Amino acid sequence: MLLKKLKLVNFRNYKNRDFNFSDGINIITGKNGVGKTNILESIFLLSTSTSHKTNLKKYLVNRDENGFAVIARLQENKVKYNFEVKYSGNLNYLTSINASSVKRDEFLKNFPVILFSPKDIEIIGGSPAGIRRMLNINIAQTYPEYADALRRYSRALKERNALLKDLDRIDEKNRIFLKSFTDTLKKEAAPIIRKRKLFIEKINQIIKIESDDMNLKNDFKIDYSISAYSGNASDIKDIKYGYTTWGPQRDTFEFILNLNFIKDYGSRGEHKMAVILYKLALWNYIAKKRKVDPLILFDDVFGELDIDMRTKIKERIENVQSVITATEIPDVIGKKAKVIKI
Ligand SMILES: Nc1ncnc2c1ncn2[C@@H]1O[C@H](COP(=O)(O)OP(=O)(O)O)[C@@H](O)[C@H]1O
Ligand SMILES: [Mg+2]
Repeated sequence: MLLKKLKLVNFRNYKNRDFNFSDGINIITGKNGVGKTNILESIFLLSTSTSHKTNLKKYLVNRDENGFAVIARLQENKVKYNFEVKYSGNLNYLTSINASSVKRDEFLKNFPVILFSPKDIEIIGGSPAGIRRMLNINIAQTYPEYADALRRYSRALKERNALLKDLDRIDEKNRIFLKSFTDTLKKEAAPIIRKRKLFIEKINQIIKIESDDMNLKNDFKIDYSISAYSGNASDIKDIKYGYTTWGPQRDTFEFILNLNFIKDYGSRGEHKMAVILYKLALWNYIAKKRKVDPLILFDDVFGELDIDMRTKIKERIENVQSVITATEIPDVIGKKAKVIKI
């Protein structure tokens, strides 16, 4: 899918603004604080139904208003589509394609984007929950059925936790009762674990190929550890705490560089390299698996990259669509880009 036009209504600092994009490289320039990142955030939101910056929808609404709309004209094989995400203060977004309401997963399936953002550096150096959230989005972009599996799991988890809150001891009656909830939870966890394993295995393979290709001396990979159910011991602990202490909501992903955790030992440059390698691998994998070229979004990260990375990225964006923000036009990109001045 190509992004042809974007309209932002009461989104962040935009009251009503239209943008036109070329099918190749687009560069959004302007001073700090003019709203460059906000544009990428709206495109990411359109694709994933979530913001990379906040969990709270209300921050996306222009401060003087009560709701927003992000409307995009997309095109594939000469056919045009109108994708729309609306929010009016309710619990959920309203998502539609050509004015017919659709499930938000349709956007994920049909319009994958890969965002490179300075926020990613914080994420991989931060809490396991933050890394899990990023990977959950990326895995759902790769295997769209994953989003549904996560929702089903989350429902089963809520139910088991509600039961645990009321249980105060593990007698025979409670044991039987709890078991059926545990079985359901394990069943719903299985496809999530399977997809996570597969995803990490494939991404690590691609990262290896890319690193060799760039002659990087670093050995970078992602480790996945499963927080598994361990029978009676888990049940006793769960009852004591009053919630489920195992399962995919507690699995961890670690970014590892030369056998060390990046978050503990890595320099800022190494964090950045890890993010770029990971995202390039993600782009490759989604492109291959889904047979679409994801739209590339680059938020202000171009300037700080070393030459090998810049060359690699330049190669990648040569024949696909990208939207790049920068205070100044990066010289590696040359004259081929469409410049959008804010
Ligand atoms: N909900 C909102 N309503 C109005 N303005 C907002 C909202 N959220 C953020 N902004 C404004 O958007 C601007 C930041 O935009 P941003 O896209 O981060 O800028 P840039 O990337 O160009 O530096 C800030 O001036 C901020 O006050
Ligand atoms: Mg910015």
